[in-house]
Amino acid sequence: MVPTTGSPPDSRKIVLSGARPTGRLHWGNYTGALENWVRLQDGWNCFFMVADWHVLTTALDKAAEIPGNSREMVLDWLGAGIDPDRSVLFVQSTVKEHAELFLLLGMLVTMGRLERNPTFKEQVRDLELGGEISYGHLGYPVLQAADILAYRAHAVPVGEDQLPHLELTREMARRFNFLFGDVFPEPEALVTPFGRFPGTDGRRMSKSLGNTIEIAASPEEIRAKLKPAFTDPARLRRADPGHPEVCAIYTYWQKFAPDGVEQTATECRTAARGCVDCKRLLGDRAIAYFEPLRARRARYEAAPRTVDEIISAGCAVARAAAIATLERVREAIHVG
Ligand code: TRP
Repeated sequence: MVPTTGSPPDSRKIVLSGARPTGRLHWGNYTGALENWVRLQDGWNCFFMVADWHVLTTALDKAAEIPGNSREMVLDWLGAGIDPDRSVLFVQSTVKEHAELFLLLGMLVTMGRLERNPTFKEQVRDLELGGEISYGHLGYPVLQAADILAYRAHAVPVGEDQLPHLELTREMARRFNFLFGDVFPEPEALVTPFGRFPGTDGRRMSKSLGNTIEIAASPEEIRAKLKPAFTDPARLRRADPGHPEVCAIYTYWQKFAPDGVEQTATECRTAARGCVDCKRLLGDRAIAYFEPLRARRARYEAAPRTVDEIISAGCAVARAAAIATLERVREAIHVG
């Protein structure tokens, strides 16, 4: 429930989601999350959060980049259609109540449970951190639970990779409710349907793999990125028949120009269309698909104060909601 002055309380159910600010978002972020967020605005009371504190858990050395990256990400959100008149856009670190709730939730979870978290194990392996793991990093899902429970959210749209964190959040909510009385709804995961999205090299699109196309990419950038993109490796010559199901460009057709999919599949399988032409045609469609998003982004970007105002207004609304929750929490546990 968002306490807005002068208007009736909003009784729609609450969605909260967030993302770490890593800069401009790409097609994979769009199909994997953002597009779904935009849709959810129709039926839910949505809170969308820049998880800046979470960046510090794994990239403390990049702290100075966080403000700029946050701004770029929020611009992508706005460009994609997150509507600040309907949804609350805010920055995690401006709502200090997350930190208090994080501390309290930390009492409700065991070390063993956090060490078993598969995301944590994976990150430890990938980052080659060895024994050098911060207490804050281990507590990543506790902070995420605080993000969600501070708004008493009912649902959290996430990718499949975040399900272990959601499960931990639910466990902490249950444990709190069991010990201190019902305060938190058990948030359910809304898993984003379009899971794996290929990058231009055919592997999962990911900034760290350098195979992304940005949502805000210009038409020239889109064409340049598509030109060397991965297609069917078995199709060596123009006359060889192709296998669309293994081709990244074909997935882009499915996503951005579904009315052209059937013809594309047929012409690929019969070698009636070559990959160069296919990329050009898909390029046209992708450029057209993202054009309205790019235009909206540019409008927000041209008025930088508006973005600042949107964020500070969102932070104020978020803060009021989190303050109300923390009052209930302190009362329930008789401390604070
Ligand atoms: N861990 C999420 C990610 O890496 C980001 C995040 C932080 C989040 N807090 C959240 C997502 C709360 C959903 C709800 O994508």
